[in-house]
Amino acid sequence: MLPAYLPNPIAALFGGGMPVDLGKNFTDGKRVFGDGKTYRGLFIGILAGIGIGLAQIWVSGAYGWENLPQHTYMSITLLATGALLGDLGKSFIKRRLGKERGSKWPIADMYDLVAGALILLLIFDPSWFYANMTLMIFIFILILTPILHRGINIIGYHFRVKEVPW
Ligand code: CTP
Ligand code: MG
Repeated sequence: MLPAYLPNPIAALFGGGMPVDLGKNFTDGKRVFGDGKTYRGLFIGILAGIGIGLAQIWVSGAYGWENLPQHTYMSITLLATGALLGDLGKSFIKRRLGKERGSKWPIADMYDLVAGALILLLIFDPSWFYANMTLMIFIFILILTPILHRGINIIGYHFRVKEVPW
């Protein structure tokens, strides 16, 4: 899951600039995605996710970690891209619900990246998905995600990368 987990913190660190929605409003008069979703965050985040995935592929080849899921160029790209598309989709719905940028939306703010990553895998590489996504791994992801999410966001808040600790 590293290629899915890394893009969000990297986007928070290096994002900024032109928002994905170009500052435009949706038909309801509210922003499409908001200022928290930028092109730079999207691109650098996805590249970082693919980067860590390439490192995983290399390490797994070099040390023969065959008991771990075997990543492919496809699987790491789908995990990284899906994570930030899930984040983008969450912000779209968040704006429709009238929630401000950066406001708390507990469950969705954590699992958006998991949903996005797994849905993209399911659509574009179902054979990899079904070969690697066991029920045990899925439950493990559901438990690990909120712990990592909370931990990383508190660290980001203390280092002034994030304006709020969630
Ligand atoms: N970020 C970015 N581009 C993205 C995703 C995130 O630039 N595609 C950066 C933004 O600076 C954002 C920060 O990472 O403020 C934290 O991301 P997130 O918590 O997902 O955004 P929020 O600001 O909380 O906005 P929203 O309410 O839409 O979730
Ligand atoms: Mg947020």
